[in-house]
Amino acid sequence: MTTSPAQTTAPTIAVVGSLNMDLVLQVAQAPGPGETVLAQALHLVPGGKGGNQAVACARQGAQVHLFGRVGDDAYGHTLRAGLAQDGIDHTGVQTDTTETTGVAAITVEATGQNRIVVVPGANGRFALDARALGSVLGRASSLVLQFETPLPEVLAAAQQAFAAGCPVLLNPSPIQPLPEGLWPLVHTLVVNEVEAAALAGTAVESVADAAVAAQALRGLGPAQVVVTLGAQGAVAADTRGSTHHPGMQVQVVDTTAAGDTFLGALAVGLAQGEPLNAAVREGMRAAALCVTRSGAQPSIPHRAAVAASPQPPDWIPL
Ligand code: RIB
Repeated sequence: MTTSPAQTTAPTIAVVGSLNMDLVLQVAQAPGPGETVLAQALHLVPGGKGGNQAVACARQGAQVHLFGRVGDDAYGHTLRAGLAQDGIDHTGVQTDTTETTGVAAITVEATGQNRIVVVPGANGRFALDARALGSVLGRASSLVLQFETPLPEVLAAAQQAFAAGCPVLLNPSPIQPLPEGLWPLVHTLVVNEVEAAALAGTAVESVADAAVAAQALRGLGPAQVVVTLGAQGAVAADTRGSTHHPGMQVQVVDTTAAGDTFLGALAVGLAQGEPLNAAVREGMRAAALCVTRSGAQPSIPHRAAVAASPQPPDWIPL
């Protein structure tokens, strides 16, 4: 990844990942086991980690090429229309004539806390088109990957990017063990505290724990690791050590897509040559705006809004 002075031209970013229609249920409190609750509202909102991350990159000014799969149905058509509106190249999004578009059932509580269950649908039948991806990798600043499409395809995409010299940004969510051979291909790993704990095999209950886990994960291959900690901010780790970025104080409405928004802004910052800590600050500002709004893609801010938003607190070397 380039560390030369910050670029001003729009970087190209490739994203391989999922597209879902989110069925968002607004509830006072999510039901416990065996319980039935009434929702205040149901909203249909474009989402999916791949789609959200692509939108986040595009709204921060990147030229984005998205590779995924939707069904030949109303949800799929709506998701494509949204991508087009954001100027995202979705010629790499396949249409499945057998499976339906992926769906996520999401409860959002009054506190903004969410719970998500995904039905993969067409995402589960995504098959990498190596030729199509190859046509983009040569000019891409990075390839962004998550774990909502089949892991063999994720691994194949990472192998192709690595061979092409294109840095891989991985957000292994929903968390699963990394397929064999993936660790050394990852340049930047972005995880939340639950994912960091699962991958590092250590408890992550504090900023100090997150720094220990981040450095342990670096030992497995990634040059840099970011652990997001919700209200506690984030920990960034690279060869120079670890830093804590304290959280920003905001009125939380809905945390859906906050991690995706963080990753998108981080990816664009890195692609523009920003050092890791500066790019993490951009991610934090974008995510802080995202959680003040409802829904996944509608809540992802544009560059101008992020540029006009408050600066996060200074980072603290650990
Ligand atoms: O990260 C948030 C996303 O997770 C939602 O949009 C939902 O579709 C699931 O993929």
